[in-house]
Amino acid sequence: MLFRLAGAGLVLIALGAGAAGAQSLEELLAVADVAKGTKVFKKCRACHTIEEGGPDRIGPNLWAVVGRPVASVAGYAYGDAMHAYGGSWEPARLDEYLARPRKVVPGTKMAFAGLPKPADRADLIAYLNQTSPEPMSFTPTNGKTGEGADAQEPEEADFGTLFDAPGVEETFVYCTACHSEMIVAQQGKTREHWADLFDWMIEEQGMAEIEEPDRSIVLDYLAANYNEDRPNFPRP
Ligand code: HEC
Ligand code: HEC
Repeated sequence: MLFRLAGAGLVLIALGAGAAGAQSLEELLAVADVAKGTKVFKKCRACHTIEEGGPDRIGPNLWAVVGRPVASVAGYAYGDAMHAYGGSWEPARLDEYLARPRKVVPGTKMAFAGLPKPADRADLIAYLNQTSPEPMSFTPTNGKTGEGADAQEPEEADFGTLFDAPGVEETFVYCTACHSEMIVAQQGKTREHWADLFDWMIEEQGMAEIEEPDRSIVLDYLAANYNEDRPNFPRP
């Protein structure tokens, strides 16, 4: 299955050209795919838990965040910018924030570049919404049903400079939450040294433990494609 996370270029060009047929958030939510949203959320897991009563990590717990007042997790030390932003996380505000966090809340402590694709954000919001005890209902507007966002956008996998091989999707999702994939592609290490790097990332850089089987999938991918001989070293 193909997975779309990056590919910002295509979407931005389409918006810039004022393309007819660009779907509104309401339309995208009405046909959102919760299963895809679950996958998009893997990016967030580096810094957030979603389970009810889950611990805060680098970021606050996100249980029932859709519709929740901004900066309201007791005991989490939000930045001043987030407190000042105020209001609550209605779908439209979440959509805007997740597209470009540091543009929408200048000074936010959330060091995350953003999700450029509107369909990814809608799928993710639908997933977040489902974790609420009282989920909002996103009903189709003006009779438009059944036509997913995918009908408009060509499905295209885009994993940046990462070599396309089994495991690339998982690696891209986990390892670009905090920095670009370039920092990964420029390394060459044995499987053992990649595993050591994971430990360092967890202990020193705040990365959350990657659960199995994904941990092994990412390690196998890195060992196979970014080993000491650096067969896929990125060349500009
Ligand atoms: C690199 C770590 C990191 C990643 C990755 C990350 N976040 Fe965050 N997030 C934070 C931090 C830190 C804050 C607190 C921001 C502040 O106080 O300015 C935050 C705050 C938030 C808030 C505000 C919560 C509240 O209680 O008001 C939302 C919503 C949110 N993040 C959603 C997401 C989603 C969804 C993703 C994945 C697409 C994501 N974040 C990825 C670190 C991260
Ligand atoms: C929670 C955030 C976070 C996540 C997720 C994350 N990293 Fe990092 N990583 C960092 C930080 C912070 C640094 C150090 C600062 C920098 O160089 O940007 C770093 C640095 C690195 C470096 C450079 C190490 C060096 O010797 O200079 C590599 C390689 C790397 N990360 C690989 C990965 C891989 C592979 C993954 C996915 C399994 C990953 N990172 C996921 C935060 C993260």
